[in-house]
Amino acid sequence: MSELAIIGGTGLTELEGLEISHRQVLQTPYGEPSSPIFHGRYCGKSVIFLARHGTKHTIPPHKVNYRANIWCLKELGIKTVIAVAAVGSIHPDMQPIDLVIPHQLIDYTWSREHTFFDEDHVTHIDFTHPYCESLRSKLLATQVDFKIHSEGVYGAMQGPRLETAAEINRMERDGCDIVGMTGMPEAALARELGLCYATCAVVVNPAAGRGAAPMDEIEKNLIGGIRQVRELLAEVIKDRA
Ligand code: HPA
Repeated sequence: MSELAIIGGTGLTELEGLEISHRQVLQTPYGEPSSPIFHGRYCGKSVIFLARHGTKHTIPPHKVNYRANIWCLKELGIKTVIAVAAVGSIHPDMQPIDLVIPHQLIDYTWSREHTFFDEDHVTHIDFTHPYCESLRSKLLATQVDFKIHSEGVYGAMQGPRLETAAEINRMERDGCDIVGMTGMPEAALARELGLCYATCAVVVNPAAGRGAAPMDEIEKNLIGGIRQVRELLAEVIKDRA
């Protein structure tokens, strides 16, 4: 059985190259996950794939059932999760189609179901380092010929609207390098269930007030960025035991 799952975000509703053996529709105590679970082989290794926004990209960031998604991966025996997410760039060095493997995050989301630990007992997970360092290291040890930023602070915003220029200025003062809408509570829920979780962020636009990007350019960046993500995933996966 596969112990690696990939959660695909915007631009990655299916994992091209995944030889699907079967798809599984699951229920959890928290409801239905965003998509069926796709079991298959990628670069010869078994992998599970889940589309965060649904297979038709219909679930907005604030409506994603993060608890059901993470719960069902745990139930399936998954130990490691690579989460792919499109982001805007705040840091001037992070340019469209660059990949960023964030090392920290700041959560600005609100009113999302953000914990498994809200009944019966009080549990405080250690979240000092929100991403799994060993998985980050594996992602960063790959030999690829495009830009991957080895660190970055991910600011998770509520969405679905994009930010104001003032909000991005505040995030920059807070230390955020990139901004997205799905990084939380996903990362914290994965930690609550003891999963080794890291994010591969794809820069698709400069954040609000940092340079305009028309829609067609964002789409082009998404296609180029996701191509790089697939290359990175292939490198990481083919070396797995
Ligand atoms: N802001 C928030 N989320 C995003 C952005 C952005 O600019 N780009 C891609 N996801």
